Amino acid sequence: MAWLVRVGAMDELISVADFERAAAERLDAGTAGYFFGGAGDEITLRENVAAWRRWRLRPRALAGLGEWSARCELLGGEMSAPILVAPVAYQRMAHPEGEAGMAAGAAEAGTAMCLSTLSNTRPADVAAAAPGGRHLFQLYAFNDPGVTRALIDEAVGAGFEAILVTVDAPPGGNRERDRRNGFTMPSELGTPGLTAATGGERELTIEEVFALMSHSLTWADVADLASECSLPVFVKGLLTAEDAELALDHGAAGVVVSNHGGRQLDRALATADALPEIADALDGRAALLVDGGIRRGIDVATALALGADAVLVGRPALWGLAWAGREGVAGVLGLLREELRLALALLGCTSPAELTRAHVRRAPAATA
Ligand SMILES: Cc1cc2nc3c(=O)[nH]c(=O)nc-3n(C[C@H](O)[C@H](O)[C@H](O)COP(=O)(O)O)c2cc1C
Repeated sequence: MAWLVRVGAMDELISVADFERAAAERLDAGTAGYFFGGAGDEITLRENVAAWRRWRLRPRALAGLGEWSARCELLGGEMSAPILVAPVAYQRMAHPEGEAGMAAGAAEAGTAMCLSTLSNTRPADVAAAAPGGRHLFQLYAFNDPGVTRALIDEAVGAGFEAILVTVDAPPGGNRERDRRNGFTMPSELGTPGLTAATGGERELTIEEVFALMSHSLTWADVADLASECSLPVFVKGLLTAEDAELALDHGAAGVVVSNHGGRQLDRALATADALPEIADALDGRAALLVDGGIRRGIDVATALALGADAVLVGRPALWGLAWAGREGVAGVLGLLREELRLALALLGCTSPAELTRAHVRRAPAATA
Protein backbone atom coordinates (compact mmCIF):
# COMPACT_ATOMS: atom_id res chain seq x y z
CA MET A 1 0.00 0.00 0.00
CA ALA A 2 2.99 2.35 -0.46
CA TRP A 3 0.99 4.53 -2.89
CA LEU A 4 -1.49 5.31 -0.14
CA VAL A 5 1.14 6.41 2.34
CA ARG A 6 3.01 8.63 -0.12
CA VAL A 7 0.40 11.32 -0.64
CA GLY A 8 3.10 13.51 -2.12
CA ALA A 9 1.75 14.83 -5.40
CA MET A 10 -1.02 17.38 -5.58
CA ASP A 11 -3.12 15.37 -7.98
CA GLU A 12 -3.49 12.65 -5.39
CA LEU A 13 -5.45 15.07 -3.21
CA ILE A 14 -8.91 14.73 -4.67
CA SER A 15 -11.10 16.12 -1.90
CA VAL A 16 -10.94 18.85 0.75
CA ALA A 17 -10.68 16.07 3.33
CA ASP A 18 -7.47 14.90 1.61
CA PHE A 19 -6.06 18.44 1.95
CA GLU A 20 -7.04 18.45 5.63
CA ARG A 21 -5.12 15.23 6.29
CA ALA A 22 -2.14 16.39 4.25
CA ALA A 23 -2.00 19.74 6.06
CA ALA A 24 -2.19 18.03 9.45
CA GLU A 25 1.01 16.15 8.59
CA ARG A 26 2.81 19.42 7.84
CA LEU A 27 1.94 21.38 10.98
CA ASP A 28 3.26 21.09 14.53
CA ALA A 29 0.69 20.31 17.23
CA GLY A 30 0.36 23.89 18.50
CA THR A 31 -0.22 25.41 15.06
CA ALA A 32 -2.58 22.61 14.03
CA GLY A 33 -4.57 23.12 17.24
CA TYR A 34 -4.90 26.84 16.49
CA PHE A 35 -5.95 26.35 12.85
CA PHE A 36 -8.19 23.30 13.24
CA GLY A 37 -9.74 24.01 16.64
CA GLY A 38 -12.88 25.73 17.87
CA ALA A 39 -14.34 27.05 21.11
CA GLY A 40 -15.45 25.05 24.14
CA ASP A 41 -16.71 21.56 23.33
CA GLU A 42 -16.39 22.39 19.60
CA ILE A 43 -20.08 21.65 19.05
CA THR A 44 -20.53 24.57 16.64
CA LEU A 45 -17.28 23.66 14.88
CA ARG A 46 -18.67 20.18 14.09
CA GLU A 47 -22.24 21.37 13.49
CA ASN A 48 -21.07 23.83 10.82
CA VAL A 49 -19.97 20.87 8.69
CA ALA A 50 -22.89 18.61 9.66
CA ALA A 51 -25.62 21.19 9.03
CA TRP A 52 -24.90 21.49 5.28
CA ARG A 53 -25.18 17.72 5.10
CA ARG A 54 -28.70 17.79 6.51
CA TRP A 55 -29.99 19.25 3.26
CA ARG A 56 -30.85 17.15 0.22
CA LEU A 57 -30.79 18.26 -3.38
CA ARG A 58 -33.73 18.25 -5.84
CA PRO A 59 -32.20 17.89 -9.30
CA ARG A 60 -34.17 18.87 -12.41
CA ALA A 61 -33.74 16.63 -15.43
CA LEU A 62 -33.34 17.32 -19.13
CA ALA A 63 -32.47 20.98 -18.68
CA GLY A 64 -30.73 21.06 -22.10
CA LEU A 65 -27.58 22.42 -20.52
CA GLY A 66 -25.28 23.03 -23.49
CA GLU A 67 -22.73 25.30 -21.85
CA TRP A 68 -22.60 25.68 -18.10
CA SER A 69 -20.18 27.17 -15.62
CA ALA A 70 -19.63 28.19 -12.01
CA ARG A 71 -18.83 31.79 -12.98
CA CYS A 72 -20.59 34.55 -11.09
CA GLU A 73 -20.51 38.28 -10.37
CA LEU A 74 -19.66 39.81 -7.04
CA LEU A 75 -19.06 43.48 -6.20
CA GLY A 76 -19.40 44.34 -9.86
CA GLY A 77 -16.64 41.97 -10.99
CA GLU A 78 -16.55 38.46 -12.38
CA MET A 79 -15.22 35.44 -10.51
CA SER A 80 -14.59 31.87 -11.63
CA ALA A 81 -16.87 30.63 -8.83
CA PRO A 82 -18.76 32.09 -5.87
CA ILE A 83 -16.11 30.78 -3.47
CA LEU A 84 -13.90 33.34 -1.71
CA VAL A 85 -11.10 32.91 0.82
CA ALA A 86 -12.21 33.87 4.34
CA PRO A 87 -10.03 36.08 6.54
CA VAL A 88 -7.68 33.94 8.61
CA ALA A 89 -5.10 35.38 10.99
CA TYR A 90 -1.36 34.67 10.98
CA GLN A 91 -1.02 32.76 7.71
CA ARG A 92 2.77 32.64 7.80
CA MET A 93 2.37 30.09 10.59
CA ALA A 94 0.86 27.78 7.95
CA HIS A 95 3.48 28.35 5.24
CA PRO A 96 6.36 30.79 4.64
CA GLU A 97 4.43 32.30 1.70
CA GLY A 98 1.68 33.30 4.16
CA GLU A 99 -0.91 35.82 2.98
CA ALA A 100 1.05 36.50 -0.23
CA GLY A 101 0.72 32.84 -1.19
CA MET A 102 -2.94 32.83 -0.23
CA ALA A 103 -3.62 35.88 -2.38
CA ALA A 104 -1.65 34.50 -5.33
CA GLY A 105 -3.47 31.16 -5.09
CA ALA A 106 -6.86 32.87 -4.96
CA ALA A 107 -5.95 35.01 -7.97
CA GLU A 108 -4.76 31.95 -9.88
CA ALA A 109 -8.09 30.29 -9.12
CA GLY A 110 -9.93 33.37 -10.40
CA THR A 111 -11.51 34.30 -7.10
CA ALA A 112 -11.04 36.79 -4.27
CA MET A 113 -9.28 36.74 -0.90
CA CYS A 114 -10.24 38.56 2.28
CA LEU A 115 -7.19 39.64 4.30
CA SER A 116 -7.40 39.59 8.11
CA THR A 117 -6.50 42.61 10.24
CA LEU A 118 -4.25 40.11 12.06
CA SER A 119 -2.13 39.36 9.01
CA ASN A 120 1.59 38.76 8.84
CA THR A 121 1.70 40.69 5.56
CA ARG A 122 0.73 44.28 4.74
CA PRO A 123 -2.19 44.91 2.36
CA ALA A 124 0.05 46.55 -0.26
CA ASP A 125 2.36 43.50 -0.25
CA VAL A 126 -0.62 41.17 -0.62
CA ALA A 127 -1.85 43.18 -3.60
CA ALA A 128 1.65 43.17 -5.13
CA ALA A 129 1.92 39.38 -4.73
CA ALA A 130 -1.28 38.84 -6.71
CA PRO A 131 -1.51 41.36 -9.53
CA GLY A 132 -4.95 41.17 -11.10
CA GLY A 133 -6.27 39.48 -7.96
CA ARG A 134 -9.29 40.71 -6.05
CA HIS A 135 -8.94 41.56 -2.37
CA LEU A 136 -11.26 42.43 0.50
CA PHE A 137 -10.17 43.59 3.95
CA GLN A 138 -11.43 42.21 7.28
CA LEU A 139 -11.54 44.89 9.93
CA TYR A 140 -11.32 44.66 13.69
CA ALA A 141 -12.21 47.97 15.30
CA PHE A 142 -9.74 49.55 17.71
CA ASN A 143 -10.27 51.73 20.78
CA ASP A 144 -8.30 54.45 19.02
CA PRO A 145 -10.37 55.41 15.96
CA GLY A 146 -7.17 56.66 14.33
CA VAL A 147 -5.86 53.07 14.22
CA THR A 148 -9.09 51.80 12.64
CA ARG A 149 -8.94 54.61 10.07
CA ALA A 150 -5.28 53.94 9.25
CA LEU A 151 -6.06 50.24 8.61
CA ILE A 152 -8.91 51.16 6.26
CA ASP A 153 -6.81 53.79 4.47
CA GLU A 154 -4.06 51.29 3.76
CA ALA A 155 -6.55 48.76 2.35
CA VAL A 156 -8.22 51.42 0.20
CA GLY A 157 -4.83 52.60 -1.03
CA ALA A 158 -3.83 49.05 -1.95
CA GLY A 159 -6.93 48.64 -4.16
CA PHE A 160 -9.01 46.46 -1.86
CA GLU A 161 -12.69 46.29 -2.85
CA ALA A 162 -14.68 45.98 0.37
CA ILE A 163 -14.42 46.06 4.15
CA LEU A 164 -15.77 43.16 6.21
CA VAL A 165 -16.15 44.35 9.78
CA THR A 166 -16.10 41.39 12.16
CA VAL A 167 -18.63 41.68 14.98
CA ASP A 168 -18.41 38.27 16.69
CA ALA A 169 -14.99 38.99 18.22
CA PRO A 170 -13.27 40.26 20.37
CA PRO A 171 -13.18 38.94 23.01
CA GLY A 172 -11.64 35.75 21.68
CA GLY A 173 -13.50 32.48 22.32
CA ASN A 174 -12.50 29.80 24.79
CA ARG A 175 -10.06 27.83 22.62
CA GLU A 176 -9.23 24.88 24.80
CA ARG A 177 -6.87 23.23 22.32
CA ASP A 178 -4.67 26.34 22.50
CA ARG A 179 -4.83 26.39 26.28
CA ARG A 180 -3.88 22.71 26.51
CA ASN A 181 -1.03 23.20 24.05
CA GLY A 182 0.11 26.39 25.80
CA PHE A 183 -0.08 27.94 22.34
CA THR A 184 0.50 31.64 21.64
CA MET A 185 1.02 33.29 18.28
CA PRO A 186 4.72 33.60 17.47
CA SER A 187 5.32 37.33 17.85
CA GLU A 188 8.36 37.20 15.54
CA LEU A 189 6.01 36.83 12.56
CA GLY A 190 4.46 40.17 13.42
CA THR A 191 1.42 42.02 12.13
CA PRO A 192 3.15 44.77 10.13
CA GLY A 193 0.00 46.47 8.84
CA LEU A 194 -1.24 46.82 12.38
CA THR A 195 2.14 47.93 13.65
CA ALA A 196 2.15 50.70 11.05
CA ALA A 197 -1.45 51.68 11.90
CA THR A 198 -0.59 51.98 15.60
CA GLY A 199 2.58 53.91 14.82
CA GLY A 200 4.54 51.35 16.84
CA GLU A 201 8.25 50.76 16.44
CA ARG A 202 8.22 47.08 17.31
CA GLU A 203 5.86 44.20 16.55
CA LEU A 204 3.05 43.81 19.08
CA THR A 205 2.30 40.53 20.81
CA ILE A 206 -1.17 39.13 20.24
CA GLU A 207 -2.08 39.99 23.84
CA GLU A 208 -1.08 43.61 23.20
CA VAL A 209 -3.14 43.66 20.00
CA PHE A 210 -6.25 42.32 21.75
CA ALA A 211 -5.82 44.93 24.50
CA LEU A 212 -6.02 47.67 21.86
CA MET A 213 -9.15 46.30 20.18
CA SER A 214 -12.57 47.74 20.89
CA HIS A 215 -14.96 45.54 22.84
CA SER A 216 -17.78 48.06 22.62
CA LEU A 217 -18.61 48.42 18.94
CA THR A 218 -22.26 49.45 18.34
CA TRP A 219 -24.60 49.68 15.35
CA ALA A 220 -24.00 53.44 15.38
CA ASP A 221 -20.30 52.71 14.75
CA VAL A 222 -21.24 50.49 11.81
CA ALA A 223 -23.36 53.35 10.42
CA ASP A 224 -20.43 55.80 10.81
CA LEU A 225 -18.06 53.35 9.15
CA ALA A 226 -20.46 52.74 6.24
CA SER A 227 -21.00 56.44 5.65
CA GLU A 228 -17.33 57.46 5.98
CA CYS A 229 -15.74 54.59 4.07
CA SER A 230 -15.40 54.80 0.30
CA LEU A 231 -15.74 51.00 0.02
CA PRO A 232 -18.83 48.84 0.58
CA VAL A 233 -19.00 47.64 4.19
CA PHE A 234 -20.14 44.11 5.06
CA VAL A 235 -20.96 43.00 8.61
CA LYS A 236 -19.30 39.63 9.29
CA GLY A 237 -20.47 37.35 12.08
CA LEU A 238 -24.29 37.53 12.11
CA LEU A 239 -26.60 34.61 12.80
CA THR A 240 -30.06 36.17 13.15
CA ALA A 241 -32.61 37.89 10.92
CA GLU A 242 -32.91 40.68 13.52
CA ASP A 243 -29.23 41.58 13.25
CA ALA A 244 -29.27 41.29 9.45
CA GLU A 245 -32.11 43.86 9.37
CA LEU A 246 -30.10 46.12 11.69
CA ALA A 247 -27.04 45.81 9.46
CA LEU A 248 -29.06 47.05 6.50
CA ASP A 249 -30.67 49.81 8.56
CA HIS A 250 -27.16 50.99 9.45
CA GLY A 251 -25.84 51.22 5.93
CA ALA A 252 -24.17 47.85 5.37
CA ALA A 253 -23.83 46.79 1.74
CA GLY A 254 -23.97 43.16 2.77
CA VAL A 255 -23.88 40.58 5.50
CA VAL A 256 -21.64 37.59 6.17
CA VAL A 257 -23.50 34.83 8.00
CA SER A 258 -20.74 33.42 10.17
CA ASN A 259 -19.92 32.08 13.61
CA HIS A 260 -16.17 32.56 13.07
CA GLY A 261 -15.75 28.91 12.14
CA GLY A 262 -17.01 27.73 15.55
CA ARG A 263 -14.18 29.58 17.31
CA GLN A 264 -16.20 32.07 19.33
CA LEU A 265 -19.57 31.19 20.95
CA ASP A 266 -19.79 27.41 21.20
CA ARG A 267 -23.34 26.13 20.58
CA ALA A 268 -24.10 29.17 18.44
CA LEU A 269 -26.23 28.19 15.46
CA ALA A 270 -24.54 26.42 12.58
CA THR A 271 -24.40 28.80 9.64
CA ALA A 272 -26.44 26.50 7.36
CA ASP A 273 -29.22 26.68 9.96
CA ALA A 274 -29.01 30.48 10.30
CA LEU A 275 -28.81 31.23 6.57
CA PRO A 276 -32.48 30.70 5.53
CA GLU A 277 -33.97 33.20 8.01
CA ILE A 278 -31.35 35.80 7.07
CA ALA A 279 -31.91 35.26 3.34
CA ASP A 280 -35.65 35.69 3.91
CA ALA A 281 -35.09 38.88 5.93
CA LEU A 282 -32.76 40.45 3.35
CA ASP A 283 -34.89 39.30 0.42
CA GLY A 284 -32.23 40.32 -2.10
CA ARG A 285 -31.82 43.86 -0.72
CA ALA A 286 -28.10 43.38 0.05
CA ALA A 287 -25.26 41.02 -0.75
CA LEU A 288 -25.37 37.84 1.31
CA LEU A 289 -22.27 35.77 2.04
CA VAL A 290 -21.90 32.78 4.34
CA ASP A 291 -19.00 30.79 5.77
CA GLY A 292 -18.43 27.88 8.12
CA GLY A 293 -18.09 24.19 7.37
CA ILE A 294 -18.07 24.40 3.57
CA ARG A 295 -16.11 21.34 2.50
CA ARG A 296 -17.77 20.25 -0.76
CA GLY A 297 -19.05 21.81 -3.95
CA ILE A 298 -22.50 20.55 -3.01
CA ASP A 299 -22.24 22.55 0.26
CA VAL A 300 -21.68 25.62 -1.93
CA ALA A 301 -24.66 24.68 -4.11
CA THR A 302 -26.81 24.28 -0.98
CA ALA A 303 -25.74 27.69 0.35
CA LEU A 304 -26.58 29.36 -2.96
CA ALA A 305 -29.93 27.56 -3.15
CA LEU A 306 -30.71 28.82 0.37
CA GLY A 307 -30.10 32.41 -0.77
CA ALA A 308 -26.37 33.17 -0.45
CA ASP A 309 -24.62 35.05 -3.27
CA ALA A 310 -21.29 33.43 -2.44
CA VAL A 311 -19.46 31.47 0.27
CA LEU A 312 -16.12 31.91 1.97
CA VAL A 313 -13.82 29.08 2.99
CA GLY A 314 -11.41 29.48 5.89
CA ARG A 315 -9.79 26.20 6.88
CA PRO A 316 -9.91 24.54 3.42
CA ALA A 317 -7.87 27.41 1.93
CA LEU A 318 -5.54 27.27 4.93
CA TRP A 319 -5.05 23.53 4.42
CA GLY A 320 -4.14 24.20 0.79
CA LEU A 321 -1.66 26.87 1.90
CA ALA A 322 -0.11 24.65 4.58
CA TRP A 323 0.26 21.82 2.11
CA ALA A 324 1.84 23.59 -0.84
CA GLY A 325 1.71 27.39 -0.59
CA ARG A 326 -0.01 29.23 -3.44
CA GLU A 327 -0.32 26.05 -5.52
CA GLY A 328 -2.13 24.34 -2.69
CA VAL A 329 -4.53 27.28 -2.35
CA ALA A 330 -5.24 27.31 -6.09
CA GLY A 331 -5.60 23.52 -5.93
CA VAL A 332 -8.18 23.44 -3.17
CA LEU A 333 -10.18 26.34 -4.64
CA GLY A 334 -10.10 24.72 -8.09
CA LEU A 335 -11.27 21.45 -6.62
CA LEU A 336 -14.24 23.11 -4.90
CA ARG A 337 -15.06 25.00 -8.12
CA GLU A 338 -15.06 21.78 -10.18
CA GLU A 339 -17.23 20.04 -7.58
CA LEU A 340 -19.67 22.96 -7.77
CA ARG A 341 -19.63 22.92 -11.58
CA LEU A 342 -20.49 19.23 -11.61
CA ALA A 343 -23.21 19.76 -9.01
CA LEU A 344 -24.74 22.52 -11.14
CA ALA A 345 -24.84 20.29 -14.20
CA LEU A 346 -26.38 17.41 -12.27
CA LEU A 347 -28.94 19.78 -10.74
CA GLY A 348 -29.90 21.07 -14.20
CA CYS A 349 -28.48 24.59 -13.78
CA THR A 350 -26.28 26.45 -16.27
CA SER A 351 -25.01 28.95 -13.66
CA PRO A 352 -24.94 29.51 -9.89
CA ALA A 353 -27.62 32.19 -10.26
CA GLU A 354 -30.15 29.55 -11.34
CA LEU A 355 -30.10 27.80 -7.97
CA THR A 356 -33.23 28.41 -5.88
CA ARG A 357 -34.92 27.03 -2.77
CA ALA A 358 -36.70 24.59 -5.07
CA HIS A 359 -33.35 22.78 -5.44
CA VAL A 360 -33.11 21.85 -1.74
CA ARG A 361 -35.17 20.30 1.00
CA ARG A 362 -34.42 19.11 4.49
CA ALA A 363 -33.21 15.52 4.69
CA PRO A 364 -35.72 13.08 6.15
CA ALA A 365 -35.13 13.07 9.93
CA ALA A 366 -33.93 9.46 10.05
CA THR A 367 -31.01 10.16 7.69
CA ALA A 368 -29.97 13.61 8.90
C1 LIG B 1 -7.21 29.89 12.22
C2 LIG B 1 -8.34 30.83 11.96
C3 LIG B 1 -8.14 32.19 12.12
C4 LIG B 1 -9.18 33.08 11.85
N1 LIG B 1 -8.95 34.43 11.95
C5 LIG B 1 -9.94 35.29 11.67
C6 LIG B 1 -9.72 36.70 11.69
O1 LIG B 1 -8.61 37.16 11.92
N2 LIG B 1 -10.77 37.52 11.44
C7 LIG B 1 -12.03 37.03 11.15
O2 LIG B 1 -12.96 37.80 10.91
N3 LIG B 1 -12.25 35.70 11.08
C8 LIG B 1 -11.26 34.83 11.32
N4 LIG B 1 -11.50 33.49 11.23
C9 LIG B 1 -12.83 33.00 10.83
C10 LIG B 1 -12.92 32.85 9.31
O3 LIG B 1 -12.93 34.09 8.67
C11 LIG B 1 -14.21 32.11 8.90
O4 LIG B 1 -15.31 32.75 9.48
C12 LIG B 1 -14.20 30.63 9.27
O5 LIG B 1 -12.90 30.09 9.17
C13 LIG B 1 -15.15 29.86 8.37
O6 LIG B 1 -15.21 28.52 8.74
P1 LIG B 1 -14.38 27.34 8.00
O7 LIG B 1 -12.98 27.44 8.52
O8 LIG B 1 -15.09 26.12 8.45
O9 LIG B 1 -14.45 27.58 6.51
C14 LIG B 1 -10.46 32.59 11.46
C15 LIG B 1 -10.64 31.21 11.28
C16 LIG B 1 -9.59 30.34 11.52
C17 LIG B 1 -9.83 28.87 11.28
